[in-house]
Amino acid sequence: MKITIIGAGNVGATTTQRIVDKGLAREIVLLDIVDGIPHGKSLDIIESTPIIKNDVFVKGTTQYQDTRESDIIIITAGIARKPGMSRDDLQNTNAAIVRSATEQAVHYSPNSIIIVVTNPLDVMTFVALKASGFPRERVIGMAGILDSARFRTFIALECGVSIEDVTALVLGGHGDSMVPLPRYSTIAGVPLPELLDQRTIEKLIQRTRDGGIEIVNYLQTGSAYYAPSAAVVEMVEAIVKDKKRILPCAVFLKGEYNLTDTVIGIPVKIGRTGIEKIMEINLLPNELEALHISANEVKKNIEKLSL
Ligand code: APR
Repeated sequence: MKITIIGAGNVGATTTQRIVDKGLAREIVLLDIVDGIPHGKSLDIIESTPIIKNDVFVKGTTQYQDTRESDIIIITAGIARKPGMSRDDLQNTNAAIVRSATEQAVHYSPNSIIIVVTNPLDVMTFVALKASGFPRERVIGMAGILDSARFRTFIALECGVSIEDVTALVLGGHGDSMVPLPRYSTIAGVPLPELLDQRTIEKLIQRTRDGGIEIVNYLQTGSAYYAPSAAVVEMVEAIVKDKKRILPCAVFLKGEYNLTDTVIGIPVKIGRTGIEKIMEINLLPNELEALHISANEVKKNIEKLSL
């Protein structure tokens, strides 16, 4: 396995470190536009390998030819959200970065699977899909796992139970219109509405929606990266180990849930070839309506792109 990570910032470097810690690749290429940063971080990370005892080589570079024949390309390049900035404010700057990064990366790795992390996530997944010319099964956006993990965290904290016993499902776009589904979120298999009152559930949903900005407001100079990188690595592991995981990921829709020409998070089966199945779960009319509102918001932003 050769994995390329484009963008050696907080998310890119932490993702590299997590992949090395888990020994999920033999070779990682960490690429950034800024000379020195990927080289220094890569060297620091490989100097940890004798201690963690995983033979992974990490090459820091600014040159796309070093990414040749990667199996997975992870795109984290872009500018991060600053206080007062919505994910959508980032759209134009990051679209240009993601487009150029995708075109250069797929030139050297035409058979790779692309995982998009740069925000606004759903629109950037669309940009990478178009720029790559890949089938939708090989261009996957990371957001649903992160949003679901945030929801799980808040449920576990609220109820004073282990996160191990909490499952949650958050669909839709990675933004204010995301669609947390309490009916499909459980503690030890028991759906949330049977355990918590509606007001408490709403409070947890709102905190999940604001999960990204809550951290931006604390950090002031950057956005979240520990949980996002953990979410990326869950996808990487599903691909590398052909695990057939069912994970909420952003994907281009062609009629599923009665939605077309938009990208949103829905449950998909992930294995060695990328997305192996797009799951259509039963939704109540109000849940489906929320999914459509979210999908249409993404679609409006996609239409603003000058591709
Ligand atoms: N090519 C390669 N790297 C680039 C390019 C480019 N054209 N433009 C910017 N970068 C690099 C920056 O030099 C920087 O090192 O992308 C990196 C981004 O890192 P950070 O600013 O630390 O941002 P990070 O927290 O890693 O977030 C990256 O992921 O979660 C999303 O919203 C977040 O869109 C943001 C992305």
